[in-house]
Amino acid sequence: MDKDELRAFMGRFMQMTTGAAVLGIVAVADRTGLFRGLAGAGPLGIEAIAEKTGLQERYLREALSSLAAAEIVRYDPARQTFELPDEHAACLADESSPYFLAGWSQIVPALYGAIPGVVRAFREGGGVPFTAFGSDMVEGIARSNGPGTRILLTRKWLPAMPDVVARLEAGARVADVGCGGGDAAITMAGAYPKSTVTGFDVDETSLARARAAAEQAGVSNVEFERVSAQEFPAEPGFDFITTFDVIHDLADPRGALEQIRRALRKEGTYLMVEPVAGDTLEENLNPAGAMTYAMSTLHCMTQSLAHGGAGLGAAWGPNAPENLCGEVGFTRFRRLDVDNPFNAFYEVRP
Ligand SMILES: C[S@@+](CC[C@H](N)C(=O)[O-])C[C@H]1O[C@@H](n2cnc3c(N)ncnc32)[C@H](O)[C@@H]1O
Repeated sequence: MDKDELRAFMGRFMQMTTGAAVLGIVAVADRTGLFRGLAGAGPLGIEAIAEKTGLQERYLREALSSLAAAEIVRYDPARQTFELPDEHAACLADESSPYFLAGWSQIVPALYGAIPGVVRAFREGGGVPFTAFGSDMVEGIARSNGPGTRILLTRKWLPAMPDVVARLEAGARVADVGCGGGDAAITMAGAYPKSTVTGFDVDETSLARARAAAEQAGVSNVEFERVSAQEFPAEPGFDFITTFDVIHDLADPRGALEQIRRALRKEGTYLMVEPVAGDTLEENLNPAGAMTYAMSTLHCMTQSLAHGGAGLGAAWGPNAPENLCGEVGFTRFRRLDVDNPFNAFYEVRP
């Protein structure tokens, strides 16, 4: 046995385990409002933090010690104070920031909750359905995808298709299929008031969140319907259809793409957004690949297989989507030049 290799692996493994454990503290700090209490407050002692947040001193001391050791908060030993740097607050306390990441502290525990079902499915087949992940998964997805979508969709992503933006500004019929918590649909409705946007999804929890968010945003040109991606109304047709992080999740991705093709008007555009990944395992042998395959095993793939579905998996690269779009009758497929570490943007046309 190579002792150096052994020690190096142990170090890497314990680093992962540490991250997994500390994410639990991040989840508590997120839910209790600790990060929001620390944001912009400068260095504070435990008593001051307890007073500001209304949280228990003993828990604060232990949790903040973990967060300090993990370099999430800064500890000053001389003054015994804790501080959340502004850059960290942007990721952990500010839901309006495109850098907000704390939604992951809801997603990962929800993934862990699926472990018993995935173990069963490993042995017997089948999978864990979306609804079994509970409202934390819905909330976590919306909080992870939402901030970037709300800020970047109309500033960076759609401008990669200037003719689509022109049509949206003039007034277009838009569908967001698999709309989840509704952020993309609401953002488009708000930015393009002459357009009408419909979000389609099968999950009631997601739709309830979407409707509440639309009301809160005060946009009236958006609505949400409970109908599947394979069955949403194709008439009188849409000028622009979007799917954000949806197609690889579906039990019947081909049926959904066929319906999108049917529902798209002749001059219409379909924007498919899928996780960034290479086409082969070799291309994905990196931290992003480890994350995508893990998410896929514990969520994306299993919830498709739960319905006897295709189980495409989240790391399906650009070639497979292009081929599938071609098979259902689309003739143009192009990856847009959008710089984004998580998502690949495909412009698809009849
Ligand atoms: C990973 S979430 C993405 C949600 C949202 N588009 C976003 O970017 O946050 C996938 C969504 O697809 C929805 N979904 C799954 N199967 C569906 C189907 N057959 N028809 C419509 N929506 C579906 C789920 O309910 C979920 O809201």
